[in-house]
Amino acid sequence: MSDKAADRPIIAFDSGIGGLTVLREARVLIPDRRFVYIADDAGFPYGDWEEEPLRERIVGLFDGFIAKYDPEIIIIPCNTASTLVLDDLRSAFPSVPFVGTVPAIKPAAERTSSGLITVLATPGTVKRAYTRDLIQSFATKCHVRLVGSQNLARMAEAHIRGEHLDDAAVLAEIKPCFVEMDGKRTDIVVLACTHYPFLANVFRRLAPWPVDWLDPAEAIARRALSLLKPNGTGMEPEHGDDIAVFTSGNPDFSTRRLMQGFGLDTA
Ligand code: DGL
Repeated sequence: MSDKAADRPIIAFDSGIGGLTVLREARVLIPDRRFVYIADDAGFPYGDWEEEPLRERIVGLFDGFIAKYDPEIIIIPCNTASTLVLDDLRSAFPSVPFVGTVPAIKPAAERTSSGLITVLATPGTVKRAYTRDLIQSFATKCHVRLVGSQNLARMAEAHIRGEHLDDAAVLAEIKPCFVEMDGKRTDIVVLACTHYPFLANVFRRLAPWPVDWLDPAEAIARRALSLLKPNGTGMEPEHGDDIAVFTSGNPDFSTRRLMQGFGLDTA
């Protein structure tokens, strides 16, 4: 294992391409580190998994990742995974700092004017005890609508690969986010799945009324930056150092091209 922080990469882990919405912010804020982006595409989508098998799968995967890459820190830009296994990962691998991604309920509760906020997430994230605890701790004065979407993560994967999306199908997924009550309307929708910011422009165009679509990507990147040791070399990594790894071992052509567009080597 290397002692030099700059030699050790940052791992960013998601079930698919959603974590790229956080990776792009992290690379801007942390230009002097190498990134290993890991997509558990063999397990995608996580939203439909039962909790115990998913917990075992992710902790098992990290045994291998940590031995192979010796990361300085690990970012989990995935709400569905973080709300389930963050504590397990921290106790299984106490020497590596983990930065999780959990629904941005606290900032939404602080910013709302109407008091009506919605959390748009995978079915897994909306049913987690972790999500309920966040509401109990930070948003008891708000009306919080939880919307678990079966299809949006897959739609985001298709959209970012250039496939056509049916407006009516997207609208059907986001419509339950919009609540009118006692003359007030939802004014904030928390994007509590890292895939969804890729669809934010589509959401804005189809929304029944304008809302703030809250994307926590930058805040997560800032948290990761705060945990890093200063880079002793003063040198930025050479272009092309960052890689993307797929648990299927076999990403298709459009996925490879997408990764290339993000400057990630899949070779
Ligand atoms: N990107 C993920 C999240 O933030 C999960 C999408 C999925 O695998 O269902 O929750």
